[in-house]
Amino acid sequence: MRNLFHISDVHFGPPHLPEVAEGVLRFIDERRPDVVVLSGDLTQRAKPEQFREARRFVDRIPVPTLVVPGNHDVPLYRVWERVFAPFGAYREHFAAELEPVFRDDDLVIVGINTAHGWTLKDGRITLGRLEEVAELLEGLPESVFRVVVAHHHLIPPPTFGTQRVSRNAYEAIDVFSRVGVDLILSGHQHLTYIGNSEEFYPKGRPPVVILHSGTTTSNRGRGVEREKNTCNWISIGDEAMQVSHYLWHGDLGRFAEHSRHFYPRQRRTPYSLEGLAL
Ligand SMILES: [Fe+2]
Ligand SMILES: [Fe+2]
Repeated sequence: MRNLFHISDVHFGPPHLPEVAEGVLRFIDERRPDVVVLSGDLTQRAKPEQFREARRFVDRIPVPTLVVPGNHDVPLYRVWERVFAPFGAYREHFAAELEPVFRDDDLVIVGINTAHGWTLKDGRITLGRLEEVAELLEGLPESVFRVVVAHHHLIPPPTFGTQRVSRNAYEAIDVFSRVGVDLILSGHQHLTYIGNSEEFYPKGRPPVVILHSGTTTSNRGRGVEREKNTCNWISIGDEAMQVSHYLWHGDLGRFAEHSRHFYPRQRRTPYSLEGLAL
């Protein structure tokens, strides 16, 4: 059994809620996940001090972490930086690596940067990174659980706003399904939701579970999660994965389980897309 804790959109800066962040750290201390994944938007405005605060927060997590940037981690108004060094502040004050990879015998987690200087809001997965992800994951033993982390959404939220998704989302799903990705973790929408790739892009492929966390430590929750804070706990067993959404209860000063979802693990058999076209 392996456990992941998924947080997102911590937004250090004016929207950040320090008491909720302390609750996150207490939760991690009590539950001791194998890895904590933070799916982007570390800051509100990509300012050096905001990155340093995010760094201090992540450094207090006593287990391995994997972090990718979000669109708020690229300067919006500092246009010169945005064009010529969109991740200069991130690299200098938070981490040099934008697309980290965690791997051990049972688990591989691959970070993808979907925030770029020019395409800020909706995000983009580059085809080059998709090739690299395929190379990393192809040929792994079937027992290895494969996770991809990308800030922007590959499927639209069911209850709110635009139906637009990351550029190359469809191509990404094709690759992820082919190389046996079990789970995609994302944020950005400030809403919690879970779905699978075949509901949105039906093609008869092995489905990939897509899980979103709302904003874990900011006051920027949207729609039904307005002024709410959420995160996800994922337990991975040999036969099934269980996902629990957690919701912050300010009166209790802690996160509590809000809903629970079970997914059997895929049995991967080699297949071809030929003949599966609908
Ligand atoms: Fe965000
Ligand atoms: Fe975002």
